[in-house]
Amino acid sequence: MLPSQRALFDIPSDVCFLNAASYSPLPLATLEAGKRAVTRKGRPWLIDNDFAQAQYQRARKAAAAVINADPADIALISSVGYGVATAGKIVPVPRGARVVVLHDDHSSPVLEWLTRARDGAFAVETVRPDADHDWTSAILSAIERPGAAPLALVSISSVHWADGAVLDMAAIAGAVRRQGAAFLIDATQGAGVIALDVRALDPDFVVFPTYKWLIGPYGRAFLYVARRHQNGIPLEQTSYGRRAVRAEQDIYFTDTDYVNDARRFDMGERDHFISMEMAAIGMEMMVQWGCRAVAERVGCLTARLAEGLHREGVSFPDASMRAPHILCLSFGAAGVPKGLVDRLAAEKIYVAQRLGRLRLSPHVYNDRNDVDRFLAAFNRIMPEYEGLP
Ligand SMILES: Cc1ncc(COP(=O)(O)O)c(C=O)c1O
Repeated sequence: MLPSQRALFDIPSDVCFLNAASYSPLPLATLEAGKRAVTRKGRPWLIDNDFAQAQYQRARKAAAAVINADPADIALISSVGYGVATAGKIVPVPRGARVVVLHDDHSSPVLEWLTRARDGAFAVETVRPDADHDWTSAILSAIERPGAAPLALVSISSVHWADGAVLDMAAIAGAVRRQGAAFLIDATQGAGVIALDVRALDPDFVVFPTYKWLIGPYGRAFLYVARRHQNGIPLEQTSYGRRAVRAEQDIYFTDTDYVNDARRFDMGERDHFISMEMAAIGMEMMVQWGCRAVAERVGCLTARLAEGLHREGVSFPDASMRAPHILCLSFGAAGVPKGLVDRLAAEKIYVAQRLGRLRLSPHVYNDRNDVDRFLAAFNRIMPEYEGLP
């Protein structure tokens, strides 16, 4: 099994960080690259001409490897919301049609469609599972529901950020295709840990940032755009999204056309080289370990957490429904006991509270010791709440 990678990070031994689903720490190599990159910008005259291209290529290649894409199909963007807005500009949702999203999904794959729905006269249908957390079955029934309005788009996360459930992307992609609709995958909580192969799935868009599971910085995200959409108009109009159509000395924008691949969707100011290299390093590390090894390691940690969590009133999705790296605890109608997250943080145990659940999300730097520390603290603190009205 992949051993703990803690030594590659700047994590003090008394810190138990179980919150990668919010934001992961950066590897030491990334911190070093960031420092070098800041210094480089202090003396920009030393930056040579090929540097920029090498940076874009490296980041595009690393992001492509995460989802088995061709680097030419990857755009360099700033956030998941940016990617979804790009898709919103490319994919028309016909009047009277519907867009399917997940109940309580993160705002980024949802709000773009909600804000367009009224003017566009289409419906946004929110899907929620039964109590068993089987989101895949719920989505499949919504997609195939007889008599429903025509399906234009399914815009969903591959792993639910607040419930930790994993969705079967292959089954959903097949169903979406059978309806002739488009499929946008927000892979924020899955990319790097759960295999996602765009060559096999053929989605329309896949978008993911680096600052969580891909152990990178904020402000760097990547958008896969299927070739059939690469003739769309980008969100921002950039000079580098264009190419000259006439080979003359003075080329004006009226003499240009868009480049022929996903580079046309690159964000403005993509030359933010400090974070570009930092993003590439984390993705390269994750790809080198491989999804299978990472998932196996974190899966053992969440399984150990689950085994130690037999408390009345505390529940979590069955192992067959949840992602290997995120365990979300529910506490019944009352929600997460007030102050629990802060009590744990006071002991340097870091977890998150999301939509009434306690979210535990270990990564490659965590080990059994972290799990046992959390369990000991949780089982010591919880009885204090259990007697409370
Ligand atoms: C599922 C999901 N999508 C997207 C994001 C972040 O989106 P953005 O990059 O637009 O801020 C998060 C952050 O928690 C998330 O959990």
